[in-house]
Amino acid sequence: MKKIQLAEDLQFSQIIHGHWRLAEWNLSPEELLSLMERCIEAGITTFDHADIYGNYMCEELFGQALKLKPSLRDKIQIVTKCGIKLVSEKRPSHTIKSYDTSKEHIISSAENSLQKMNTDYVDVLLIHRPDPFMDPVETAEAFRTLRKDGKVRHFGVSNFSPAQMEMLQREFDGPLVTNQIELSVLHEQPFFDGTVNHLQKEKVKPMAWSPLAGGRLFKGEDEKSQKVKRALEKIAEETEASSIDVVAYAWLLNHPAQIMPIVGSGKMERIQSAVDAANITLSREQWFYILQESMGKDVD
Ligand SMILES: NC(=O)c1ccc[n+]([C@@H]2O[C@H](COP(=O)([O-])OP(=O)(O)OC[C@H]3O[C@@H](n4cnc5c(N)ncnc54)[C@H](OP(=O)(O)O)[C@@H]3O)[C@@H](O)[C@H]2O)c1
Repeated sequence: MKKIQLAEDLQFSQIIHGHWRLAEWNLSPEELLSLMERCIEAGITTFDHADIYGNYMCEELFGQALKLKPSLRDKIQIVTKCGIKLVSEKRPSHTIKSYDTSKEHIISSAENSLQKMNTDYVDVLLIHRPDPFMDPVETAEAFRTLRKDGKVRHFGVSNFSPAQMEMLQREFDGPLVTNQIELSVLHEQPFFDGTVNHLQKEKVKPMAWSPLAGGRLFKGEDEKSQKVKRALEKIAEETEASSIDVVAYAWLLNHPAQIMPIVGSGKMERIQSAVDAANITLSREQWFYILQESMGKDVD
């Protein structure tokens, strides 16, 4: 598995396992541990979380698995996020869905994540969504405090525009190591709206969420999904890829921006498709053919 260098002292596996849907997988701590070990054997060492996943439950499920084998901690990288406040019985003080990037909220959310996940530190903490009420000076202050206390090693953002990322970067003396964005064969806009270009310019590596469009690639009955599915089938045949998801991952992995797809399935054979995709080289024509079918027209 290729490693991606995000900072001098930080490497991710290019394929990341996402735990957003973890609560739906109905795994015991032992079963989750076993799944994580199989991922690690396949080279996937980076795991993606957020405080809110599974209605504030997923970090705890992950922590229960990690507690069974604490020695795993040194072999993996943990990403988590904060900044979204859900209305939930788990958070009675939240009366409205909102964003909070204040120093107080970031620090308390990160500390809570550490406790739930049974770890002393996370490798990367992301601000989950751009906050229209953000004071970047205060957010950067929270980052510095967490870094000084050894609780978070690095910081990044998610779903940020280039301008939003630059605003925060200007106030923070460490690198923002990633922008986790939606990117897939069914969501190609970030290649055109400046998001990917900005990351390439800054040499920041993107994490791609919903790389299979959350399953829409298989179940979607809309015209775009159908067209892209047919295109992927054609390219799968040409490249002898075993299935269309392999080609969808390869489309991201072949791009020069060093994109890191976050796999959302809890089934090892489906996770394996992302690993297999590293062996598929797409020609420029094949890459553009998938893009064309996604855009519904050829490039201008
Ligand atoms: N930063 C953000 O705002 C944000 C937003 C969303 C997600 N994320 C991150 O990105 C990760 C991945 O997102 P995602 O779960 O939407 O990713 P995804 O991989 O695009 O979608 C996963 C879904 O596709 C289904 N699927 C996969 N292979 C399939 C197949 N061959 N046939 C039919 N269905 C298939 C999975 O079902 P099975 O489980 O049954 O295989 C699952 O329901 C999340 O876990 C989270 O870490 C971040």
